[in-house]
Order: sequence, then C-alpha cells, then structure tokens
Amino acid sequence: MNTINSNFLVIGSGVAGLTFALKVAEYGKVHIVTKDKAKESNTRYAQGGIAAVTENEDSFELHKNDTFIAGAGLCHEDAVDVLVKEGPQRIKELIEFGAEFTKKADGTYSLAREGGHSMHRILHADDLTGMEIERALIEKTKAHPNIVIFEDHQAVELITEHHVLGNLSANFNICFGTYVLNKKTGKVSAFKSDYTLLASGGASRVFKHTTNPEIATGDGIAMAYRAGVRIANMEFIQFHPTSLYNTEGKTFLISEALRGHGGKLRNSKGELFMKKYDERQELAPRDIVARAIDAEIKSLGDECVYLDMTHLDDTSERFPNIYMYCLHEMNLDITKDLIPVVPAAHYVCGGIMTNLDGLTSMQNLYATGEVAHTGVHGANRLASNSLLEALVFSHRAAEKMIKKSRKNYEGVIIPEWKEDGVTDEEEWTLIRHNLAQIREVMSNYVGIIRSKKQLNRAYRRITMLHDEVEDYYKRTKINADLIELRNCTAIAYMIINSALRRNESRGLHYMIDYPETRESYLKNTIIK
Ligand code: FAD
Ligand code: SIN
Repeated sequence: MNTINSNFLVIGSGVAGLTFALKVAEYGKVHIVTKDKAKESNTRYAQGGIAAVTENEDSFELHKNDTFIAGAGLCHEDAVDVLVKEGPQRIKELIEFGAEFTKKADGTYSLAREGGHSMHRILHADDLTGMEIERALIEKTKAHPNIVIFEDHQAVELITEHHVLGNLSANFNICFGTYVLNKKTGKVSAFKSDYTLLASGGASRVFKHTTNPEIATGDGIAMAYRAGVRIANMEFIQFHPTSLYNTEGKTFLISEALRGHGGKLRNSKGELFMKKYDERQELAPRDIVARAIDAEIKSLGDECVYLDMTHLDDTSERFPNIYMYCLHEMNLDITKDLIPVVPAAHYVCGGIMTNLDGLTSMQNLYATGEVAHTGVHGANRLASNSLLEALVFSHRAAEKMIKKSRKNYEGVIIPEWKEDGVTDEEEWTLIRHNLAQIREVMSNYVGIIRSKKQLNRAYRRITMLHDEVEDYYKRTKINADLIELRNCTAIAYMIINSALRRNESRGLHYMIDYPETRESYLKNTIIK
C-alpha cells in the first residue's frame, strides 16, 4: 500500500477546510481529501449569510448577547467572545480571498436580519451566500501550488497509535492521519500527516427530512468517536423551521432571511399563529419557531404551514434564487402564492470537543466547522453564526499549527488497510436498507418533541441496526455507502444516548416528560 505524506491533512472542502488550507499552505504541503466533488458541502447551500458586527450601531456585546440567549445557557462564554470579536477580521480576509457580498446603492454592505438577532448584521450574497464563498475559496485553493485536492476520496478511519503499534490496549492518543478510500478505484491508502484537521461537516442526513445534501453523514464525528476522541452535546440537533414542503422528497431551504425581511407564518386556516407562542413572533430563535410550527401542524392535522411574502414588493429581487427555484420546481410564484414549509433537520450543535484553537482530545488532531463543538452554539445555534464559527476557528487552528514545532514521525510505519473481506451482494442489498430505517426512526422518535418512551424505543432499534451493520462491516470489503451507513448508525446512537441523559428541556432538546429547564443540567453531555 502506498502511504501519501503531507504536513497538513484536511478532511473536507467546505468553508472550514478550505480557509484552513489556504492559511497553512505557506508553511508546508497540504492535502485536502473530499468525498465528492470539491464544491459539494453544506457550505455551498448556505443562503442567509454570515453574522458579524460590521457597523457602528451594532456592538460585540449585542451579538454576544443574542448568541447567549439563543444558546439557552450552554454557550461557552470564552468561545463566544472569540467568535464575535475575531469575526469581522475573518470576514475581511474572506473578501480578500475573493468572496463578494451584496452591497447597497451607496456602496455599503446590505445587512440582513434573521431570527434571534437584535440587529441587521448578516452579510450575504443575495440568497446564494454559500455558493459564492465556495466559489471564491475553491478558485484560490486550486491555484495554490502547495495544495492538492483529492476529490472522490473518502476518509474511513483515523490512524492512531493503535494502528501503528498493532496493540489493542495502546492509548489512543496520537493521530497520524487517516485511511482513505479512493471511490473510483475502491482502493484504501494511508494519508499520513504531521497534523490532521477534521472539517467534514454535519450529520443531518441521519434524519429523513433535512435541508442538508447527501455528504452530511457525520463521518468525522463517527471516526473520532470510534477512536475515543471526546464528543459533546449531540442531543442538540437544530431543526430549521422552514424547509420547502413537497411530496417528492426534494431538499430545499426557505431562508430565515425571508422572515427577517418581513415574511409571516400562517396556518392552514390563514391565521398568523406566531404571536401565540413568542412575543418576538417570526423572529424568535429557531427552536421556538420550529416547535410552534410543529404544534400547529399537529393540532390541525396538517402536513405543513405557510410562509406569506405576498405583502412585500421586492421578494424576487432580494431572494432571486428562492424565487426562481419555487417558480420552476414547484410552479409557485412566491410574490403571489403562500409557500408551504415544514421544519427539517439542519445543523448539529454538538460534535467533536475542541479548545479555542480547534485542538481535540487527541494529539495532532484538530476539528473545525460543523463537525466541531467549540461551545459557541450552546443548546441552540443563532442563525448565521455557523459560517462565522468555521472561519474564526479554522484561522485559530491554522495559527496554532504554524507556531507549533512539528514532531518527526518519519520512522512510523502505517500498516496496510486489511482488504481481505468479500462482498455478499445479497446480504448488502438487505443491509443497505438499514439507512432508510435509521432515518425513519430518528425522524419519528428523536425529532423536535421527544419523550423517554420514544427515545428508549429508538435506542432499542438503533442498537439492533448497529449490531447488524458492525457484523457485516467486519467481514466485507468496504465501499462508500457502507462507510456512510456505519457512520450514520454511530451518529444516531450518539444523539439518542445524549438525549436520554438530559432529563430536562433546553434549547433544541424538548422532552415532554421534563418540560422545564433544570439548573442541574447546566453542563455539556460528554461522550468519551
Ligand atoms: P461542509 O461545508 O459541510 O463541508 C464538509 C466537507 O467534508 C464536504 O466537502 C464533504 O464532502 C466533506 N466530507 C464529509 N465526510 C467526508 C469524508 N468521510 N471524507 C472526505 N470528505 C468528507 N450557516 C450560516 O452561518 N449561514 C447560512 O446562511 C446557512 N445556511 C445554510 C443553508 C443550508 C441549506 C444548509 C444545509 C446549511 C446552512 N448553514 C448556514 C450551515 C452552514 O452552511 C454549515 O454549518 C457550514 O457550511 C459547515 O461548513 P463546514 O466546512 O464545517 O462543512
Ligand atoms: C438560512 O438561510 O435560514 C440558514 C441560516 C443558517 O442556518 O444559519
């Protein structure tokens, strides 16, 4: 087996991985491993924009306060401080990398507002912010002589002391890189590196209804979990209140910026219902709006509620992508018709625990972006703080690694990946259906409203599916779908396990059995 060496190994080509790569590329050889085409990522689909304090009437205190309120007591103060204070400088750099944000006629940036924000502070590129960021970063990355991007390459497992020493009782504490599957050839190689950054994004594809693209199967979190790296707060899954409702299984977000722009939510009777639930109405934090929609849908026995933009006169100019998508894909003119919307799994607030420099509990292993738990989001992420978090903490991780003296692991030999399994096609046909079952279980029992009974039921089913998948995995030749299935099973397990340990309701975790917030649970749920 060939071992592919670099100084910096980056898993993932979203905003977290690409900005990191650009920052460390002057200091060594960078390999970016990405499981699809480089541009495919959650980043690419971001609509609303990036929150940051960029004008005088706003302040760091206000942005921090909004983040704390949304986070329902669990935000780490030091991480939020770093996020908010370093954010504006990181956005300046993103603009220098070539990303262009929408400006007003007077040349200043157009700032949007979204749920939970007390100010207009969200920079955006119309309603295609993520696509613009990916475009700029990929152009810059591909042009850099020290960076190589390996597309259609999927990280399978972290390489730790355990692999190198071949000793099962070894302390899993150093990362030497990852094993990577070349999806085109089916071969697994060892990508060895001085430092590894997991920037592999979120895991919302573990739910049936989601805003996320297919790549979001939680691979990084699952790999870290298997290697004994600390994971936190997996029970806090953010459901975006307004994904487009359709019966064809299409995944499309209706940005929160539409509500920030004046959009109103109506139920099937045409009633404006948000005032019943929160005085901030449509601009309450996401957990509150999503629960309100869920309650309306359930009480009226409906499939969806409706977002009303018909009273506004600039919807098609302000949101051209959403306007065109609805018109062409749904035959819906959102300037005249109500938009059918439902909540859908959107963002994982928990993840791999890191310090303020992105370092995980394993030496030489860093994590930034949606895969990480830095502590900024607490029990519920404030809208448009995610792209910002990726920028800020990828920068800090890069600075840290550049300054650290590198250990020389040249003598370390990485053993070959064992490829001796055989694929039993008949069994694989059965096993691959487990993914649909996992997604069904998660959406039915581990959604916006939870109960002990439902969580226990989900736990029993996922444990059974987990055992089946592990048994099959051990005796078969791996492929991309099997890796994702295995990872989704681990993610589902972590979410349910964490949810069962939090006997209270806080932020995104709402338990019928424990509707109140409890002081004794003012702490992270840590999986070691
Ligand atoms: P991603 O952008 O998801 O990138 C992960 C990368 O890792 C991908 O390239 C993927 O292919 C790769 N990868 C995954 N597993 C493997 C593996 N095993 N091997 C190799 N590569 C792998 N946030 C905001 O702040 N503002 C917004 O307006 C906003 N809008 C959003 C709209 C939508 C529809 C969605 C889905 C999310 C939105 N978010 C928004 C959230 C935000 O986009 C993401 O949290 C953020 O982009 C994550 O960036 P990332 O770099 O961590 O991960
Ligand atoms: C949106 O545009 O509504 C998504 C914003 C986010 O997830 O932060």
